[in-house]
Amino acid sequence: MHGIFDEKRVILWRTIYDLNVKGLVLGISGSFREGGNTDYLLLKALEIFKERKFNVKLVALRNYKIGYTKSCRRCLEEGKCIIDDDMTRRIAPLLLRARIIILASPVYFDNVTALMKTFMDRTWWLRGKLRYKIGEGIVVGRGYGLDTALQEIHNFMLKHEMIICHRGVRCRAFEKNEAAKDETALKDIEKWLIH
Ligand SMILES: Cc1cc2nc3c(=O)[nH]c(=O)nc-3n(C[C@H](O)[C@H](O)[C@H](O)COP(=O)(O)O)c2cc1C
Repeated sequence: MHGIFDEKRVILWRTIYDLNVKGLVLGISGSFREGGNTDYLLLKALEIFKERKFNVKLVALRNYKIGYTKSCRRCLEEGKCIIDDDMTRRIAPLLLRARIIILASPVYFDNVTALMKTFMDRTWWLRGKLRYKIGEGIVVGRGYGLDTALQEIHNFMLKHEMIICHRGVRCRAFEKNEAAKDETALKDIEKWLIH
């Protein structure tokens, strides 16, 4: 089972390299803390992609105006979200353009942050439009509920029919700068591209 999984991952990465269609790698941070552990890890990941000539962009959700979904279902008629804010104007176009989407979140009460969840809910109208984009997940917490938070990210990606190519990065860190000490998490990020 593991062998098949690894083989698929290698084929996917090779396809991206071989076709030379590296495209945009979009890193989305759900952290409320500028320069915190989540941003640190996401920047590390994006640096690695940048070294390999990918275009990269980091979106820190805290810097954008993103309203809650209204559950109005107008997107079913209009084909797009009718809420006029940064989610529809600035972030959705990046999601549509991206080839690889990395979602990184601190763990809050065994889950992703409310910021990340608000972002997720607002992508309902993009169903089917993110299909086959590659997804990667990063979670950071002091030690509780990292798996459930990561599962939340993976479920989001599966609902969008994205391709998850890695088991995800779990980093144990609490205070700022502690993420730099988690060698396993850092190695996991590097593994994304060693194929
Ligand atoms: C409201 C709140 C809830 C938290 N809940 C958890 C938790 O359930 N599990 C955990 O391991 N860490 C928890 N933490 C710790 C953070 O995940 C940790 O400090 C993380 O490094 C924060 O990421 P940041 O540096 O990007 O802000 C919580 C922190 C806050 C502020």
